[in-house]
Amino acid sequence: LTAKVLVIIPAAGGGSRFGGEIPKQFVTLGGKPILQHSIEKFLLDPVVARVIVAIPEPLLPGIARTSTERLQFVAGGKSRQESVSNGLRDAGDDVDLIAVHDAVRPFVTPEMFHALLDAARDFGAAFPGIPVTDTIHTVTDGVLSSTLARSQLVAAQTPQCFRRNILREVLKRAAASGDEGTDEAGLAARYGFDVHMVPGDPANIKITRREDMLLAEAYLLEQPQ
Ligand code: C5P
Repeated sequence: LTAKVLVIIPAAGGGSRFGGEIPKQFVTLGGKPILQHSIEKFLLDPVVARVIVAIPEPLLPGIARTSTERLQFVAGGKSRQESVSNGLRDAGDDVDLIAVHDAVRPFVTPEMFHALLDAARDFGAAFPGIPVTDTIHTVTDGVLSSTLARSQLVAAQTPQCFRRNILREVLKRAAASGDEGTDEAGLAARYGFDVHMVPGDPANIKITRREDMLLAEAYLLEQPQ
């Protein structure tokens, strides 16, 4: 892959589902913050020109001191989408592909990442998806209201990868129309872009709830050192 790649990591969430004082991305896993694991995965990858991390605004003065030429920090926004947009503002026109990755997925692998970059280069946009194993219902006021067809459902992971101009347009349109998505792939599809699915990785978990730490510690032991 010869393309120049930028990675944006939204890491400005409060982590309300995790509980506790510290947002989950700053919780320590194997001696360092989860966010640092995620950042290092990309810095180790020679295709990555730059990583931009959106962090809670109050932390910016302290953390920005650890910036390097390949690692920069910006203030996050009120929503994930706003945090990604803030990162994109500093993207520059020298990158071809942009990957957006959840701070709290520290087990991303280079194999999956590169498959996504290839698909984004070829088709414009790509995301990692995993067929869901649970049955998914919608519930209104505590009562089941409908059941979605499981055979059509996939759970979306990150990194989600885009040609630079596609991600720019998607976020611009979302901001202009007030659309809030929970991921960029969904927004891109909403605006008519083809978003290709690449097989996700069951180990690429999103550390969301406190129980997820047990799983994360187990996966950490399995990682190549
Ligand atoms: O809350 P959610 O599961 O969507 O969070 C996904 C990612 O987006 C996390 O890495 C979180 O830190 C980030 N986020 C953010 N700014 C927000 C909300 C979430 O960067 N305002």
